[in-house]
Amino acid sequence: MSPALNRPIPAALRTGWQATGPRGLAILAAGAAVSGLPVLTAWAGKLLIDGLTGKGVPGVDLWLLAVAAALLGGAVAGAGFLISYLAAWMRTRISLHVEERLYRTASQYRGLRVLEDPDFQDRFRLAEESAQHAPGALASFVLTAVRAVLGSAGFVVLVLSVWPPMGALLVLAAVPAVVAQLGLARRFARTAEETMTARRSLHMYKALQSELAGAAEHRLFGLGPLFHARMTRASVAVNGADLRVQGRVALTQGALALLSAVTLAAGSAVVVTRAAGGELTAGDVVLFLSAVAGLQAAVAGVGVQLTETAQALRLFQHYLAIVDAGPDLPDGEGTPGQLRRGIEFRDVWFRYDEDGQWVLRGLDLSIPAGQATGLAGVNGAGKSTIIGLLCRLYDPQRGQILWDGEDIRTYSISELRRRIGVTFQDFMTYDLTVAENIGVGDLSLMDDHGRVERAAELAGAAPMIGRLPHGYRTLLSRIFFGEGGETRGVALSGGQRQRVALARSLMRDDAELLILDEPSSGLDAVSEYEIHETLRRHRAGRTSLLVSHRLSALREADRIVVVEAGRITEQGSHSALVAAGGRYAELFALQASGYVEVS
Ligand SMILES: Nc1ncnc2c1ncn2[C@@H]1O[C@H](COP(=O)(O)OP(=O)(O)O)[C@@H](O)[C@H]1O
Ligand SMILES: [Mg+2]
Repeated sequence: MSPALNRPIPAALRTGWQATGPRGLAILAAGAAVSGLPVLTAWAGKLLIDGLTGKGVPGVDLWLLAVAAALLGGAVAGAGFLISYLAAWMRTRISLHVEERLYRTASQYRGLRVLEDPDFQDRFRLAEESAQHAPGALASFVLTAVRAVLGSAGFVVLVLSVWPPMGALLVLAAVPAVVAQLGLARRFARTAEETMTARRSLHMYKALQSELAGAAEHRLFGLGPLFHARMTRASVAVNGADLRVQGRVALTQGALALLSAVTLAAGSAVVVTRAAGGELTAGDVVLFLSAVAGLQAAVAGVGVQLTETAQALRLFQHYLAIVDAGPDLPDGEGTPGQLRRGIEFRDVWFRYDEDGQWVLRGLDLSIPAGQATGLAGVNGAGKSTIIGLLCRLYDPQRGQILWDGEDIRTYSISELRRRIGVTFQDFMTYDLTVAENIGVGDLSLMDDHGRVERAAELAGAAPMIGRLPHGYRTLLSRIFFGEGGETRGVALSGGQRQRVALARSLMRDDAELLILDEPSSGLDAVSEYEIHETLRRHRAGRTSLLVSHRLSALREADRIVVVEAGRITEQGSHSALVAAGGRYAELFALQASGYVEVS
């Protein structure tokens, strides 16, 4: 095999071993053992024909031989089915193993950057598709090859005993076959790689037409024909590429079949001539022809398996690249202590893409412990980005974020995150029950109903939950059935969902830092004010960071910080900022007058 496959071969074998263990080896051995059977059948056939034409071995009962040949044929077929089942068992084990490993790797990513990379998305899907096949394909290849070698040993002896040069002819014919099969494998793998982006977008357009997310807009704006046309275009491109490879396969296999026929024809001509001259028996001719056919079938079988295996192994490298890659963000070891002084962003520069625009440009921000800090600024100013960096979803390119003077990168990411309760601007609502939707805010307390209820009450979600058909057990989903597959779930309004998300972040009772990003997106002004008030009481003495474009909601914050284009431009208490008559005062006056809402 080519050098490119040096790495994936041992890795695929290791994966196969990890997934199936000694049982896998036993199956391979059993597969190899039954390979001897076809040769025995061929021998029995020869003896039978020789016996019938009067050239048989004396003392062998022909009827016994006939029965044995028939039974052997049955045994071969029966063993074939058994081996197929065992092979399916192996494939299943391997699939489960690689799927588990791939998704464990994915679930352990700490940051978001890796998932925002289109190349990674392609690679992940390729890994998912190929990893299922590679170890199984390699095992099948080994099995087929072992069976072919063992099974062919008898055929080789038979062929050589009748006409030795045939051996050389067969070997010569096998060389172009192997080269062609490897070429096909490369083609297959390249096509899978090249069409992955199109296949992902095909999947996206399919989902847009058949899933609930976005369906209202899709209908209102009449987007059906657009999505359908784009889906069809992607589908035609993907299928066209697949078909081109299939065409190549047909041509190659056709040419190889022709080559086999020519080889067989040469051999036949020679042995038939010799049989006519009385040198060989009719049984010898039949035996020779069936042995050559057997050998050619074995080579062809190995060839097909070779294509599949080489292709799977090439793609298996994507799986290896993913599962062997180190962590996406370096983890620290320390555990942040109780926040005493506060959090400080010191000259933080950040951009989402290496060649993109700076989103934070030398940001200096302090969030004093025990106080409520309000973050104000127009859309796109960088407020949510600040929160993302604070939670280490991304690391800044330059500068530091300090937790009581210590760079947060020195802390264990999970320990750091345990200290923070966040309601993100783009929070999630899971297709789970209300209780689970809240409980996941602290997995260790997920089943503590008292805690779940308390969090719901703090977030002002309890009355609404009380009115749901099954209370806390109500499923927040319209696409699954609840309890026992009988009850229907509900869809909550945006503000109701936001309160559930808020309750989730309040599950962490001991969180040092509470972050609330734009609750105003889902809440009306009264609700937002209420929530801020509840939190103010709840968080007494705790540190909070509140982000809202509705400045009145931040009014009560101890300190308000105005972010503009990735920098802090003003800070102070509400009254101080209004008195200063700067940007904050201007925005606040506009909003207070009720004409404009800056968003
Ligand atoms: N995941 C992301 N990838 C690339 N750019 C992003 C991402 N999130 C936000 N941005 C960009 O960063 C800038 C700041 O966004 P954000 O922090 O969400 O602003 P704010 O929360 O103040 O409205 C915007 O220009 C936005 O387009
Ligand atoms: Mg935001």
